[in-house]
Amino acid sequence: MLALKNSSKSAFRRRLLGWYDANRRNLPWRQTRDPYKIWVSEIMLQQTRVAAVIEYYKRFLKAFPNINALARADEETVLAHWSGLGYYRRARMLRAAAQQLEAAKREMPRTAGELLELPGIGRYTAAAIASIAFREPAAVVDGNVERVLVRMAGENEADSVDFWTTAQELIDTDRPGDFNQAMMELGATVCLPKNPACGACPLKQWCGTRGEHKTAKPAARKTSTVGYVVAGHGPKIALTQRPKTARLMPGMWELPLLHRLPRHAPLFTLRHSVTTTDYVVKVWRGRPPKGSVQSNVAQASKLPLTGLTRKILRRLSLLRD
Ligand code: ADE
Repeated sequence: MLALKNSSKSAFRRRLLGWYDANRRNLPWRQTRDPYKIWVSEIMLQQTRVAAVIEYYKRFLKAFPNINALARADEETVLAHWSGLGYYRRARMLRAAAQQLEAAKREMPRTAGELLELPGIGRYTAAAIASIAFREPAAVVDGNVERVLVRMAGENEADSVDFWTTAQELIDTDRPGDFNQAMMELGATVCLPKNPACGACPLKQWCGTRGEHKTAKPAARKTSTVGYVVAGHGPKIALTQRPKTARLMPGMWELPLLHRLPRHAPLFTLRHSVTTTDYVVKVWRGRPPKGSVQSNVAQASKLPLTGLTRKILRRLSLLRD
């Protein structure tokens, strides 16, 4: 498939785009050509599922409707709106890039090459924004696109596919943004890792494997137990701030962590997954530990809380969303 003739390439594009027009999900970032909004969506969608992104995307844009609003917001407020999405570096870089543009009195760059110079924008994001917002024929490759291309290449060629070159050769130059989104959409909804729906695939005549090819094994998962304490009087609760130098979630706020778990039964237990670790999270009532800060619950909701802390406070009915 990797060396399709030109006539076959046009048929491939027509088929893929026809399928996309009929089957695309109606997602909020597909109703805009505003490059800032597309940028926010593509950053949120990295490492995060579509279903998890939708509400965050809407709330984030309500709070920061344009580059200037984001550039002028303080970091804690931006992180508070990202709280629960994970990979917080993405939010810091997004704000830093907005500040850079505002300081230089520049609009969003219009080409993938210039977009690449901004903090937090790599090859994927630059091509996604340039193709969707500005119709530049720059192909994107993410995990979904890789899987589609590997399967199309067939068992014998799977290891030698040059994803970026292949995607670039296939791209539809009239509708590059739709082509890119169609490839990702196909990977996300039809060409699934485990049980691909080959019967519904618009590309099956070009496919070398029809779903037979085994794609990479999911990463091994670990399990870990952690304990937190809820300590507070009336509307106040104790929180601690993670070190600014922490590798994960630096500077974010959380419930105090218990280094030794009590013997008595916890208030409740819940499960929480971060990347490849599944945590069993136990929560006890207790005294505010040294170093913690008493915070009003209403104030706490505006802090950049960790996603897990938000989950626990919601479970205690101390937070609504
Ligand atoms: N994954 C990341 N961005 C996407 C988009 N615009 N459409 C479909 N899947 C995506």
